[in-house]
Amino acid sequence: MSDTAIPLNPVRQKARTERPSAREIDSTLSARLASFKTPGLRSEYQNQGSFLYIEDFLPRDFTERLVAAVNDVTPAVNRNYLPGHKAGGSVSRHTLDKMAPFIADLYRSEALIKFLETVTGDTLQVSPADDPHAYALYFYTRPGDHIGWHYDTSYYDGRRYTLLLGVIDNSSCRLDYELHTRTPEIPDQPGSVQYPPGAFVLFDGDKLRHRVSPLGENEMRVSLTFEYLTNPNMKPFKRFISNMKDSIAYFGFGQVFRRKGGKNGPA
Ligand SMILES: [Fe+2]
Repeated sequence: MSDTAIPLNPVRQKARTERPSAREIDSTLSARLASFKTPGLRSEYQNQGSFLYIEDFLPRDFTERLVAAVNDVTPAVNRNYLPGHKAGGSVSRHTLDKMAPFIADLYRSEALIKFLETVTGDTLQVSPADDPHAYALYFYTRPGDHIGWHYDTSYYDGRRYTLLLGVIDNSSCRLDYELHTRTPEIPDQPGSVQYPPGAFVLFDGDKLRHRVSPLGENEMRVSLTFEYLTNPNMKPFKRFISNMKDSIAYFGFGQVFRRKGGKNGPA
């Protein structure tokens, strides 16, 4: 389904044709992250109950490449509508692997993962090959597109971290959130951010209650999500629940169950 095609300027055309190697992505990101005051960011993350926002995070060239990727995958957007909870479009990691490999390389960047490990204090792993959420683009393109209050619940045995990266935001949408909701001794602390292209939002999925407010008329917003885990094992019943949820709410049955019966099929 094609909602919108993003016109490409010459910079974006160049970005499309000259894809950097995984090593180049890593070295560019490594140089960028070296300028960050990581201990302070770690404290901020802890004080906010496993939540951190950095407005100017990605190198500008990377953001341009992400915008170009959005243009490439727009024909493959899967629209979803859950009455009262969610409306929008998604592109799963399986489609990104084929149509936007820069995103797959960025997801696996050792420099990025090392930075996230320093901030969270956890040893992180990438998500299994059959998890469509590992990296995905979320499209808000029609008036009213939104997602209601929820947690990014981990169906895995360990913690599930969500990293959101801003890609396109010509919208009035806000990421509203509540910190400390799972910590009875600390009062809930509401917050809200409109994260622009290149911005970074990191949180522990089981700890941050959050939503995205509805898209207005003639607005558009695209966000990239990365998921990292502390333990990629998932028990069979939770696998079933997770797959059903992903099929209905996000990517469609074809993307979620695409490998069923194959040698990489879900456990
Ligand atoms: Fe979420």
